[in-house]
Amino acid sequence: MIGRLNHIAVVVPDLVAAAGIYRNTLGAKVSAPLDLPEHGVTTVFVELANTKIELLHPLGDNSPVAKFLASNQAGGVHHCCFEVEDIRAARDKLRASGARVLGDGEPRLGAHNKPVLFLHPKDFCGTLIELEQA
Ligand code: CO
Repeated sequence: MIGRLNHIAVVVPDLVAAAGIYRNTLGAKVSAPLDLPEHGVTTVFVELANTKIELLHPLGDNSPVAKFLASNQAGGVHHCCFEVEDIRAARDKLRASGARVLGDGEPRLGAHNKPVLFLHPKDFCGTLIELEQA
């Protein structure tokens, strides 16, 4: 059901420092920071040949990644995003197999303006999973 690895998201305490590590130390192509107020994050995209790394930093008061950063002060891997062809069909299949879909289960537009859903980490080896309709 899942297709390509679209991105791995890493929450970081300092976006400028993290972008510098990926750009200078690791020699990757790194975007400018982009505020996404409706998602409560500022993002920097690291473009790799086969996938992306999304560096995330909390933006605003109700950021979904603020708590994660508070308990992982050096930063850490936050979620993996896999592409699916039909996000509602994927959701229904996952629910039928007992997996928990976060929120109300309705796909919403993610950071790339494509429909996304999140799956409960306890059902997926301790990893928060994002599905994105490619
Ligand atoms: Co993501």
